[in-house]
Amino acid sequence: MDTDATPSRLRRPRRGRVLLAGALGVLGAITAVAVSVPADAAASTLGAAAAQSGRYFGTAISASKLGDSAYTTIANREFTMVTAENEMKIDATEPNQGQFNFTSADQIYNWAVQNGKQVRGHTLAWHSQQPGWMQSLSGSALRQAMINHINGVMAHYKGKIYAWDVVNEAFDDGSGGRRDSNLQRTGDDWIEVAFRTARAADPAAKLCYNDYNIDNWTWAKTQGVYNMVKDFKQRGVPIDCVGLQGHFNSGSAYNSNFRTTLQSFAALGVDVAITELDVEGASATTYANIVNDCLAVSRCVGITTWGVRDSDSWRSSQTPLLFDGDGNKKPAYTAVLDALNAAGPNTSPSPTPPVSPSPTPPVSPSPSPSSSPVTGACSATLTTINSWPGGFQSEVTVRAGSSAINGWTVKWTWPGGQTFSSLWNGTQSVSGSSVTVRNAPYNGSIAAGSSTTFGFTANGTAATPSVTCTSP
Ligand code: XIL
Repeated sequence: MDTDATPSRLRRPRRGRVLLAGALGVLGAITAVAVSVPADAAASTLGAAAAQSGRYFGTAISASKLGDSAYTTIANREFTMVTAENEMKIDATEPNQGQFNFTSADQIYNWAVQNGKQVRGHTLAWHSQQPGWMQSLSGSALRQAMINHINGVMAHYKGKIYAWDVVNEAFDDGSGGRRDSNLQRTGDDWIEVAFRTARAADPAAKLCYNDYNIDNWTWAKTQGVYNMVKDFKQRGVPIDCVGLQGHFNSGSAYNSNFRTTLQSFAALGVDVAITELDVEGASATTYANIVNDCLAVSRCVGITTWGVRDSDSWRSSQTPLLFDGDGNKKPAYTAVLDALNAAGPNTSPSPTPPVSPSPTPPVSPSPSPSSSPVTGACSATLTTINSWPGGFQSEVTVRAGSSAINGWTVKWTWPGGQTFSSLWNGTQSVSGSSVTVRNAPYNGSIAAGSSTTFGFTANGTAATPSVTCTSP
């Protein structure tokens, strides 16, 4: 509503506050007097209100509730970003090894895009909600399964996801070190391998590390994650964003240093987002504080609440969301909406540039893949699909000739001391600079003229050695 008499030429295009300096009052000449001037009508939904400052406001969606019109009415009206609450997790998308199922995930994805919303992908590598087959894996088999999973899911959604939570909850609550898990026991580098794999799989998606209890700047876990992100940026490991889940409760209460945490991560050269917000008891003041903290940080790109109504919450007894079980707006809703509406288009008085230049690691596809001659049995083509300082990722396509093959062996010689850091869809044996990769148990049989691929990440300078393929 426009009730003021401000001449339209003084108004900002979007709702904001206009500073009128000087001419008012006895202190006029030396004191700027801030006068709050509503520039145009306040937005009436969370998504529209957040959009005034270029941010999104999202929610977790559950596929099983898409038939509930009370639920979809609120979700569609209020939110501009969607996260699948469970449907894009590992157990949902790869219930059996190598067999992907996107039925429920696609229901959410399609609902979101058909209603004009963007989608955050959640999540690719996590100790929790692993299917049974993955829980029982370890070592290099698990490492390869993780890589295959990232490739399989990201290929399905290539170019369609705003940001992926590539790795979720990898840090320990108390110590600030890594959380013990089967993934962690494959080696400390599992997180960076996940991110490098993800970058190669979908270069258009932002890649996030996501965790809880990293809100309070003084906590060891916050510092542990901060140091990892700093290290990744320094070494060129591809990471674009940090998701702070924001599950606030009596054991993990909101603290005003949350703003420092957001600013500190952003200063490393990553976006930050509040990805799973819920607040035990849903204090309107706490919700407003959280929103204002995000608005104060230019690289805080959006906020997602973890569900629509209290009855939809994974912690419904804590009534932590913005709508009650009947779909009514709670006081916290109004507090959030007002905070978003109070923000103008430029809500960060001092944008936080990266501390050090943090270039996106160069993606330098090999211009000329190296192929073996077709000898009749099989041929192989090696392509470098991603590289970064000190490492690279390649993909090898193995193709059967005019007859089907049952088993294959690809060989090459590294030209400059390169070493594998991880290899998937094949089994490696290395002797000095000589590399032999044989089929995995599940991809040795290839029909005439068909192909399979294996891939690897390696240390050293990207190379495209000539490869040979033989079949027994
Ligand atoms: C939760 C879901 O909300 C529940 O439905 C499910 O039973 C367990 O997972 N951190 C995360 C989310 O990253 O994926 C979790 O979601 C909540 C904690």
